[in-house]
Amino acid sequence: MSDKTSAVAASPSGDPWLLTPGPLTTSVTTKQAMLHDYGSRDKKFIEINRRVRSSLLNIINGKDDFVCVPLQGSGTFSVEAMLGTLLPRDGKLLILVNGAYGRRMAKICDYYKRSYDLLEYPEDQPVSVTDLDARLGEDKAITHVAVIHCETTSGVLNPIAEVAHMVEKHGRSLLIDSMSAFAALPVDASKIRFDAVAASSNKCLEGVPGMGFVLVRRSVLEKTEGNAPSLVLDLYDQWVQMEKTDQWRFTPPTHCIVAFEQAIREFEEEGGVEGRGGRYASNCKILVDGMRAMGFETLLPDHLQAPIIVTFHKPTDPKFDFQNFYDRLAERGYLIYPGKLTVADSFRVGCIGRMGNDDIRAALAVIKETIVEMGVKNCAPAAAA
Ligand SMILES: Cc1ncc(COP(=O)(O)O)c(C=O)c1O
Repeated sequence: MSDKTSAVAASPSGDPWLLTPGPLTTSVTTKQAMLHDYGSRDKKFIEINRRVRSSLLNIINGKDDFVCVPLQGSGTFSVEAMLGTLLPRDGKLLILVNGAYGRRMAKICDYYKRSYDLLEYPEDQPVSVTDLDARLGEDKAITHVAVIHCETTSGVLNPIAEVAHMVEKHGRSLLIDSMSAFAALPVDASKIRFDAVAASSNKCLEGVPGMGFVLVRRSVLEKTEGNAPSLVLDLYDQWVQMEKTDQWRFTPPTHCIVAFEQAIREFEEEGGVEGRGGRYASNCKILVDGMRAMGFETLLPDHLQAPIIVTFHKPTDPKFDFQNFYDRLAERGYLIYPGKLTVADSFRVGCIGRMGNDDIRAALAVIKETIVEMGVKNCAPAAAA
C-alpha cells in the first residue's frame, strides 16, 4: 500500500502514517468521498444512511434481532449512550475493568448516579470469567455486565465469548465496548449472546472520526423509553425518530457518514472481519517481531495481545527519551502513541488503519535508524536491561 520514495514517509495522501489507536490512516477514496455536500433530508443522503446502518448490522450477523443506532460524536458518546439508555434507573451494572476504558464506564455511572460494582484486574491481564461466575452467583442485584473487547490501554484481548456465555448462563444482560476491535475481531450475534455493542467510525472500519454507533437487541431497546438521563444521548429516542422519519434528530455528520459508507465498502471488499482482522494480525506480528529483534519488550505475552495496538516497555537506556523518539519519528512521517498504563513506563504502536505489511516493515526500518541516531544501545526495560 505504500509508495515511498523520499526519506520522509507518507501515506498515499501525503500524510504521516498514524501508528495509533485512532483516528487512523484512511484510504484516499474514503477521504475523497467527503468532497461533496449532502442535504441531511435529501433522498440520496437518507439512502446512504440506511445502507450504512444495514451494513453495520451485517457485521454482527444481527439483521433479524438487532437495530443500529448511530450517534454523533466520538466513541465515548456511544458508550455513554449505551449505558445511560440500557441501564434502568433501578438496575445495577457489573463492570469488568482492566484499563482506562473500563474505568471510564464507572465514571459514566457516577455521573448518571447508576448503581455499579467493579471486578478489577491489572492492565496486563484479561478479565476473569471464573470470578464473573462467582460474582453473578453472589449478587442477584446485578442486572447488566459490561466488558471491553480489546482494552486499548494496553492492547489486551478480553475473552468476550466466554464472558457472554457466563452472562447468559446467569440470565443477565451483556453490554460490550468493542470500540478498538470492532470489524477486526468477531462479535457475532449468531454465536454469542449480548444485548448491545458500541463502536465508532474511525477505528478498524477505517472511516473518519465523528460518529459512533450502538447495535442493540431490538426487544431490549423497545423497553428503554424514559431511561436515558440525557436527550442527545438517548438511544431510544434517536432510534424511534430515525425509524419514523428516516432522519437524524439533530444535524448529522454528513461528510463522516458518506466517508463511512465508502470505508465499509472497502472493508467488505477486503473480506470483512476475516480479511481485515487477518491483515491487522500480520501487521501486528511483523511489528512485534521487528521490535523484539531490536531488543524492545512487549508488555503482553503473544496469547493476550489483540492485533490492534502493542504496548512496549520504555527502555531504561538513559539515551532513550520518549518525546525525542516521538519527535524524530514524526519528522520521518510516523506518529506513534504514548503509554496509558498506570503501572509501567511504556509507549504504544498501533497496527490498524489503512496500512499493509510493507508499511509496517518500513516503519520498523525508521525506528531502527532513529534508535541508532539517538545513541540508544539497549532497548530492554529495567528488569531485562
Ligand atoms: C475500548 C475503547 N473504548 C472507548 C474509547 C473511546 O473512544 P473515543 O476516544 O473515540 O471517545 C476508546 C478509544 O480509543 C477505546 O479504545
